[in-house]
Amino acid sequence: MGLVGSTLLQSLIPAGSALVARALVNEVVGLVQGTTTNLGGVWPWLAIGLGLALVDALVSLGGTFIEQRLYDDLDLDVTLALLRHASTLDLASFEDPRVQDIRDRAEQNTARHFILFVSSGLNATLGLLQIATLTAVLAVIEPLFTLALLPLFVPYLHFQWKLARVRYGEGYSRTTKRRWTRYYVSRLTNHESVAEVGLLNLAPLLVGNFRALMTEFRERNRALYRRGLAGGSLFAALTTTAYYVAFARVVLRAAAGKLTVGDVAAYGGAAVRLRSAMESAVRLASQALEQTMYVSNMREFLAISPRLTAAGTQRPSAPRGEVRLENVTFTYPGSATPAVADITLHIRPGETVALVGENGAGKTTLAKLISRLYDPDRGRIYLDRIDLREWDLQYLYRQISFVFQNFGRYEATAADNIAFGDWTKLLSDRARIEAVARQANVEEMVNSLPQGFDTPIGRMFGEYDLSVGQWQRLAVARAFAREAALLILDEPTSNLDARAEYEVFSRFRQLAHGRTTLLISHRFSTVRMADRILVLADGRIVESGTHEALVSRAGHYASLYELHRRQLDGLSAED
Ligand SMILES: Nc1ncnc2c1ncn2[C@@H]1O[C@H](COP(=O)(O)OP(=O)(O)OP(=O)(O)O)[C@@H](O)[C@H]1O
Ligand SMILES: [Mg+2]
Repeated sequence: MGLVGSTLLQSLIPAGSALVARALVNEVVGLVQGTTTNLGGVWPWLAIGLGLALVDALVSLGGTFIEQRLYDDLDLDVTLALLRHASTLDLASFEDPRVQDIRDRAEQNTARHFILFVSSGLNATLGLLQIATLTAVLAVIEPLFTLALLPLFVPYLHFQWKLARVRYGEGYSRTTKRRWTRYYVSRLTNHESVAEVGLLNLAPLLVGNFRALMTEFRERNRALYRRGLAGGSLFAALTTTAYYVAFARVVLRAAAGKLTVGDVAAYGGAAVRLRSAMESAVRLASQALEQTMYVSNMREFLAISPRLTAAGTQRPSAPRGEVRLENVTFTYPGSATPAVADITLHIRPGETVALVGENGAGKTTLAKLISRLYDPDRGRIYLDRIDLREWDLQYLYRQISFVFQNFGRYEATAADNIAFGDWTKLLSDRARIEAVARQANVEEMVNSLPQGFDTPIGRMFGEYDLSVGQWQRLAVARAFAREAALLILDEPTSNLDARAEYEVFSRFRQLAHGRTTLLISHRFSTVRMADRILVLADGRIVESGTHEALVSRAGHYASLYELHRRQLDGLSAED
């Protein structure tokens, strides 16, 4: 409201100033020529002029002030809206590059675009109002100029509007390439990647790719700037010429005594303001329209709905962790072959099932399907005899503890890294965090950190980092912190030394007690502890049974185990 009021006030100022200038000059001329001797007529006009100039300055400062506050409010609201919406989207959405494009565009400072829309819209309106009042003033003195400007107004508006659309289209089409530039920058500056990038001397390659993209952007920008310059210059040349032609007429008419000297002064001021008001009204109007296109980017993002429908409402109390899969098939978007094909499987409550298979066999994908991070293309998955899709999604997630193959490393204290497993209960319960740490056998490790449980870890903010294996042990502890019916461990010991692995598993039975456990591992020492082993190849279960049964079956598992044994034998033969 404040912005609208100040805009209306400002719109009257140029015409007012022109009238003040006219009156002042006429007073002075009168004094010089001796037609009046009284200075009294000058002072009120000077006072009005001063008042107008002050109002002009203060109103525009006030406008800036309001705009700055509005920007901060909007920035917060818009960013929160984006984050809130992002948190409703699922893994598949984030893995889809098209969705990433839409998200990238939405994140491009929407608040700034919104403010620009408001301020350019208001300023364009201000320009139009100023044009109207200035035209009224000029109509009395010299209407020719306004008449000459009007036919230029529409083509110039058309030109600027087209330019704005091209500019927006350029930005739109650059989304993916811009993400590449950000990727190169992060590879070159992120603490997790600089070591390898430095050792492999990848910098020249990455910088080269970055430069190629940025140079392309610059060239295309320059073409746009040139276009803007050409159109703007033509408009300026034509309008300035018209201004001087009309000025010549004003001067001639003043010389002939048809206009006063004050008229000449008023024309000079008002016509210049009219020309620039018209120029900026056109530019700002097209800028305002351009911003609406950017704001539509945000709408496009907010319109994305998650692939997983979260319509389920079932919240069975005391879940037992019985898992059943019926002919489950899943293919990643863009892939020709299914990652998981036609899987039928039953896991009893409390059972520990190991999933083995070569790289890319589909183990992680299957685990993600069972946790409903993806929905299968075909078939059904049940937990406690209820289709996963009928479960309340957040409630379902609470029944699952998942140590991911690429487990999370949180920039937080060691205690919080464990508490995140069930943060609503644990974050302020140090005693329980310590109990979990003891059970998961990480207490000693955490206590040896400089500030024990309160040590901030991670290199982004903290001064202390863990080894990969230590991080993984924390991730396992985090999973145990959650009292979930279903425990999924995807390569939980891949980075652990032999002793740590032994310790995790010597307590595993006790920790996993009463929970259904899905254990994915390439380590036979780990896999052997399972009640049942499933062998996955090309997304299908090809064998299942206990370690002993599978070894004696002389199939896929036996051949993998044989390779492993021969390796061990070879090693001991070399000793
Ligand atoms: N996010 C993804 N998008 C597209 N394809 C994927 C994705 N994740 C995995 N794949 C593909 O799906 C197949 C199965 O992958 P998955 O990660 O399930 O294998 P895995 O058995 O866990 O292997 P590993 O032992 O290496 O962990 C692979 O061919 C892989 O290329
Ligand atoms: Mg995997």
